[in-house]
Amino acid sequence: MKLTSEEQDMLDGKHGKSAQKSMEILTTLGDIFEAGSMIEIYGVQIAGVSYANLGEAGLEFLSEMAEDGKVRVLTTLNPAGMDRENWQALGIDKEFAKNQNRVIDAFARMGIITTCSCTPYLIGNTPHFGQHLAWAESSAVCYANSVIGARTNREGGPSALAAAITGKTPNYGYHLDENRHGEVLFKIKTSVKGTDEFGVLGKIIGDKLGELGQKIPYITGIPNATIEELKSFCASVATYGGTALFHMEGITPEYNKYPKPESNMIELTQENLETARSELIDDDIEIDFISIGCPHASIHEIAKIAKLLEGKKVKKEFWITTARPTKRISDEAGYSKIIEDAGAKFAADTCCVVAPIKGRFKGIMVDSAKACYYGRSKNKFNVKIDSVENCVKEAIR
Ligand code: F3S
Repeated sequence: MKLTSEEQDMLDGKHGKSAQKSMEILTTLGDIFEAGSMIEIYGVQIAGVSYANLGEAGLEFLSEMAEDGKVRVLTTLNPAGMDRENWQALGIDKEFAKNQNRVIDAFARMGIITTCSCTPYLIGNTPHFGQHLAWAESSAVCYANSVIGARTNREGGPSALAAAITGKTPNYGYHLDENRHGEVLFKIKTSVKGTDEFGVLGKIIGDKLGELGQKIPYITGIPNATIEELKSFCASVATYGGTALFHMEGITPEYNKYPKPESNMIELTQENLETARSELIDDDIEIDFISIGCPHASIHEIAKIAKLLEGKKVKKEFWITTARPTKRISDEAGYSKIIEDAGAKFAADTCCVVAPIKGRFKGIMVDSAKACYYGRSKNKFNVKIDSVENCVKEAIR
């Protein structure tokens, strides 16, 4: 790779140990993917924050990087394993809380904003069209590339941190025009509405892409979609298909920049949606946990839940997972009081997947296809997907 003199100095250790380690990680990546050079980035999103996933080995790596490492660009964090203010009420044990805070403190020492959210684009780490990023949260990567038209690869935890410390990333993959064109045309022949249905659609498209060994869908037939529906779709298609970029005709900014794929064409009907939905509902499920906010709930979603819960009481464990800044807006708007008076709980900074709750519940009901996937595979719950309205109905019934 061709390096600038500043990049070479970093590699030679002239900017400290962490910058050197970071440049080693990035040049190795660049060599593997045959990048010609590094590019400047606007911002970073770091994943791999839960102590449950990092363990002591991960924490040791972070502590070493924090000895002299400081981020050069706006950098935010993915959800942690607990709500940092309300962990006791959510049943998180003391030892875990102590270790989770050690992880977050190490990130903070490097100048990272400890937002602990998978929706950085809703709370200020909001890139613009065409800007280069190094993001490491699959749903947010998909949102940044597709909905915003920014450019990022799916980074891992160490490469995202290395990019934050150097302000650079190797120029390959989704940073380049030639890798951003649609590969498979999906014609949607039915109406799709709500976060749950967009999640189901993401599962169908993700599964089909997996079968075809392709990654970038070009989707027609969706006349409109909200931010919440798109974030649900992103999380789902990224989970089931490993997709980091899609084009949606009339909706995403680059849909007409590249030619529409014509060789692979798949039509999706109401029947496909119903079949995929049934695959996200386990037989004989006994629901004892409801969680909304995967990806993290927007203020619109919280307002809607508050309206549905006003004057009611929930009879089951009910979490709303969101970013702390969004929770603060909710507090000020009075939504939090309505929700908490109804007995539901906010789980800010975390979610039903990364919190250490494996086996604690029998069946989880969600509006998110991604939460279904990890609810089953990671937390060993039975799952049911449905609309936000029906999730609330189940909680109060
Ligand atoms: Fe976010 Fe957790 Fe879902 S990190 S995308 S709420 S699994």
